[in-house]
Amino acid sequence: MTDTSSLNKYTTTVSKPDSYPNYFQLQRQLRSLIDHYLSTEHLYDRLQELPIQFANPQPRPWQSINWHAIERQQIVGIDPDVFLAILVGAIETEAPIRQYTQTSRQYLEALHPQLARFVGGTIAADGSLLEPGLWEKEERQHTPALLKIYAQLTGEKITPTPHEARSYQPSGDPRIALYRHGLHRIATEYGATCLYLWLMAHTTGALQAVLKELTRDEINHMTKFWGFGLWAYPETSPLQLCRTLLQTTKKPSYSRDRSSLIGTLQRMTGVLHWQDWMWTNRATFAYTCTRILQRLWSWSNSLTPEYLEGLFGERF
Ligand SMILES: [Fe+2]
Ligand SMILES: [Fe+2]
Repeated sequence: MTDTSSLNKYTTTVSKPDSYPNYFQLQRQLRSLIDHYLSTEHLYDRLQELPIQFANPQPRPWQSINWHAIERQQIVGIDPDVFLAILVGAIETEAPIRQYTQTSRQYLEALHPQLARFVGGTIAADGSLLEPGLWEKEERQHTPALLKIYAQLTGEKITPTPHEARSYQPSGDPRIALYRHGLHRIATEYGATCLYLWLMAHTTGALQAVLKELTRDEINHMTKFWGFGLWAYPETSPLQLCRTLLQTTKKPSYSRDRSSLIGTLQRMTGVLHWQDWMWTNRATFAYTCTRILQRLWSWSNSLTPEYLEGLFGERF
C-alpha cells in the first residue's frame, strides 16, 4: 500500500549511464526506468491507497537530498544549456499550483466531494482555504525543488514567471465540464511524468535523486486521476477521446483554452525549447511518452467497473 518499497533502492543500481550514452543505451535506461516505476503492481498500489488518503490524507515524504552535491557533471546525454532551458520551462509550468488545485476542486465539488478535497483541500463557508489538499501539498514542493537545482547548477537565482491558470468556467452540464477539465489535468500529469522520468535517464547522483522524487509524485497523481476518469466516464470510447482531443485544432475558441492533450503538448514543446533538442533527445522523449502510454493503457484494461466502484463509490 505504501510507496516505500524497493523503489528507494533503485537509483543505486541503474543511475550511472555512460557519460556520452548513445541512443540505444538511453533507450535501454528509459525502458528499465519505465518498467520499474510504472509496473502494474505499482500503478495498482497508487490507486488502491486512495480511500485511505480520502480518510486520512498524508503527503508522501521525500528521501533526504544532498542539494549541495548537485553539479553540472551529473547531466548526461543532453546539452547542459538545453537541460537548463527545460528546467526553466518546467518551473513555469508547475506554478501557480494554488490556482490549479482550486480550479479542479470547483469542477469536482458537486460530483465527487472526496476527490475535490483530495485536490483542493477544505474550504470555509466564506470560501477561504482552511487546509490545502493532498495533491497541492505534494505538488507545491516541485517549483522550489526545481529552483534549487537551477541555482545549484548556475549559481544564479531565477524568479518564475508562471503562465496564467485557466479559471473555473461554470457550465450547464457539470459532468461534461469535468470531463474536459479532467482530460487536461491527466494530460498535464502525464506530460510531467514523461518529462521527469526522461530527465532521470539523463542525470546521475543527487540531481537524479531530486528528479526521482518529482517523477514518483507525478506518477502517483496521474494514476489516481486516470483511475478516476475510467470510473467516471466508462462509456468513453477511444474514438470519442480522439474527438475531444482533436477539438483543439477545429475550434478557435478551444485552441485558446488549450484544454486538451494536444493543446498541452503544443504548449509544452514551446516552453521546453523543443526546437533546440538534438534528434536523439527528441527520439528518446517520443519513446518515453509512447511506452508510458502503453503501460497505462494495458494497466487500465485490467481495471473492472466493480473494482473502480469499490474505490470511488457509485457513479454520478
Ligand atoms: Fe508537479
Ligand atoms: Fe503534477
